[in-house]
Amino acid sequence: MEKKVWGGRFKKLLDPRVESFNASISFDQRLYKEDIQGSIAHARMLGKTGIIKVEESTQIIEGLQALLASIKAGTSSFSTENEDIHMNIETLLTERIGPVAKKLHTARSRNDQVALDMRLYLRNQIQELISLIDDFKNTLSKLCSEHSHTYMPGYTHLQRAQPITLSIHLGAYVEMLGRDISRFNDCLKRMNKNPLGAGALAGTTLNTNRAMVAEELEFDGVIENTMDAVSDRDYLIEFLADGSILAMHLSRLSEELIIWATDEFSFIELDDAFATGSSLMPQKRNPDVPELVRGKTGRLYGHLVAMLTMMKGLPLAYNKDMQEDKEGVFDAIDTLRTCLTVMIPFMESLKFNKERMYAAASKSYICATDLLDYLVERNISFRDAHEIVGQLVHHCIKEGKYLDELDLETYKKFSPAFNQDVYEYLKIENAVKKRKS
Ligand code: ARG
Repeated sequence: MEKKVWGGRFKKLLDPRVESFNASISFDQRLYKEDIQGSIAHARMLGKTGIIKVEESTQIIEGLQALLASIKAGTSSFSTENEDIHMNIETLLTERIGPVAKKLHTARSRNDQVALDMRLYLRNQIQELISLIDDFKNTLSKLCSEHSHTYMPGYTHLQRAQPITLSIHLGAYVEMLGRDISRFNDCLKRMNKNPLGAGALAGTTLNTNRAMVAEELEFDGVIENTMDAVSDRDYLIEFLADGSILAMHLSRLSEELIIWATDEFSFIELDDAFATGSSLMPQKRNPDVPELVRGKTGRLYGHLVAMLTMMKGLPLAYNKDMQEDKEGVFDAIDTLRTCLTVMIPFMESLKFNKERMYAAASKSYICATDLLDYLVERNISFRDAHEIVGQLVHHCIKEGKYLDELDLETYKKFSPAFNQDVYEYLKIENAVKKRKS
């Protein structure tokens, strides 16, 4: 075991149990590209401001670029002894270019460095997620345009309520996904500021140029308050909150698909390539995909609550607790990515059983509200009309009939306002067409 880069004031080596407990390299190695990108911008700024010599800056930048290529190629490896991604990169750079590497950390702390890495990483990931959500939204929009005449019951309390089309139903999810995209964009806008230059917490006495770094890294500005810069994790919480809402939307859709795939509903048929069998019951075709998507929602909520709880008692500024901000965010990103990636082809593979959906809507009392409107249009008060139609439905259930199976004579017994045109109001297609809002 070697002496640490911070080991100057220590007389003993770190206990190996603490060393592995403390280390984050097993998970924060994900940040290597962003760590190097940030270091290159920092080194360039140190050179341009004259804090280090231009040749030194160039040497460091070239060393970092070569190191990046070597990590990508798998020829450099990380060690727990070097604790985290920041010290691993610095150590590897020193091995490569010698003592000049020791100048890279001038006017910087791991506290502003890690804040920078996470912002750079999350910014990329959110952009990729937005494009995936958009793909999924397009998949649903396409289904909507294919199914503007696929009639089905709309539900409240999971009871047949009023006739709708599949297009209207899926269109609701298109709207939700649109809001998800706009929420992630909001998060991006707020988080896109440069924390580097805050140092450990109180800034630096050296003549750095934070705006220069911000510009190179395409930030919209710098985080002015240095204590806020190193201790703010709002953007991660915001991301997890936005991700939780997205997961909740995916879960609601999944729940509906699971219900629709039951023999009892049979609104959809699962494609063999997207369903799974049972090891015991040979007849089964299970909707594992939407079930897993529904189940994984818990991870997102868990990560959100974990992060809020981790942050709630922390005094300013950096505390090591904050190292716990990473795994949940990484898992949230992976989970959302895999859910969206599989939901797109899953939705495309579904077969909608139009006849069955139509029958579910027509063989029901789903047009009762339309009858009510019929009477209201003929000057009967809403309350009276409600009572009349209620009695009609009761009569139908007693006689084992649907509303369109009663003759006009029977209708007239309930109200003289009924005429032959009432049957037009009982057609599902007309009921959907007539809805103005
Ligand atoms: N690995 C640390 C983290 O993720 C980096 C910051 C460490 N800073 C410190 N003062 N020990 O939070």
